[in-house]
Amino acid sequence: PSVSVDDKKFSLGIIKTMVPGGNIVQHVQTIRNIIARDDDVLICTYPKSGTHWIWEIVSMLRKRKAEYDPRIKETAMLEFLSKDQMEAMESPRNLNTHFPLRMLPKDLLEKKRKIIHVMRNPKDVAVSLYHHFKSLKIGEGSVYPGTFSEYLSLFYSLDMGAKGGWNKYVTDFEKFAKDNPDYPILPLYFEDIKEDPKREITKVAKFLDVPYTEEFITAVAERCDFENLKKAHQEIKDDYITRKVAHDGKQFMYRKGIVGDWKNWFTVAQNELFDETFERWMSGSELKFKFSL
Ligand code: A3P
Repeated sequence: PSVSVDDKKFSLGIIKTMVPGGNIVQHVQTIRNIIARDDDVLICTYPKSGTHWIWEIVSMLRKRKAEYDPRIKETAMLEFLSKDQMEAMESPRNLNTHFPLRMLPKDLLEKKRKIIHVMRNPKDVAVSLYHHFKSLKIGEGSVYPGTFSEYLSLFYSLDMGAKGGWNKYVTDFEKFAKDNPDYPILPLYFEDIKEDPKREITKVAKFLDVPYTEEFITAVAERCDFENLKKAHQEIKDDYITRKVAHDGKQFMYRKGIVGDWKNWFTVAQNELFDETFERWMSGSELKFKFSL
């Protein structure tokens, strides 16, 4: 069956439901002009690349306590915040966003506030995003009514604002870091955090100038491990977003949290096409993605 969503309307429709006032252009303008604070940190991710995970890690590190933040990360997400809310936030602000590089607050970039950019292999991103869209609702229905196969053809050109797809989002950051070698930007990979959380969390602590002990890093890694974080999300946090937008009331922020679930979804032919596309996308890029561990 054909899907009655064209990809432009599809992605804009979702973003529209998220921004204060419902006017994307105006909201991006507002965000572009917010004033940076000395201790602002900005987490940038293409959707479904591990934003919740890194946000909690950063939040614990900066608090210097391995304790969950009772808030959900959306309380510090540029897409959701009005100017007043941004200004009223207490410091330090652990801001996070899926906005592409070209939409980031100018003042933060000019003042060189630290950026953490988390990337994930695009096959797992595609699968995770498919489930995300399936479980989001607009009105009474799911945002995305189609099958995985139909969705996958949308993913190739799904433009979340970068004027290109997933590849444009990640390579824009890569180019930015190359062109601005003195800019404090830390690229991380979901797969690396999964493979050795303590090693990667230590990297983040160093990047943020947070003093640490082995014990503290171990505690952060354990607390932020998938099962523990999922439980904390359900038991400690006030997840008003899921209550508002979950299609069938299902928890969709913490689904499986593994590397390589794409193998359960891609057919051989889909995988071949994806590999070809990936190779084309990444020619000229030095980013290295792991599709399994
Ligand atoms: P899956 O759908 O593959 O399970 P984001 O936070 O950017 O929306 O990304 C969500 C993805 O990260 C989901 O992937 C989610 O399960 C996974 N995730 C969230 N917390 C995690 C954790 N602590 N460890 C591993 N994966 C995690």
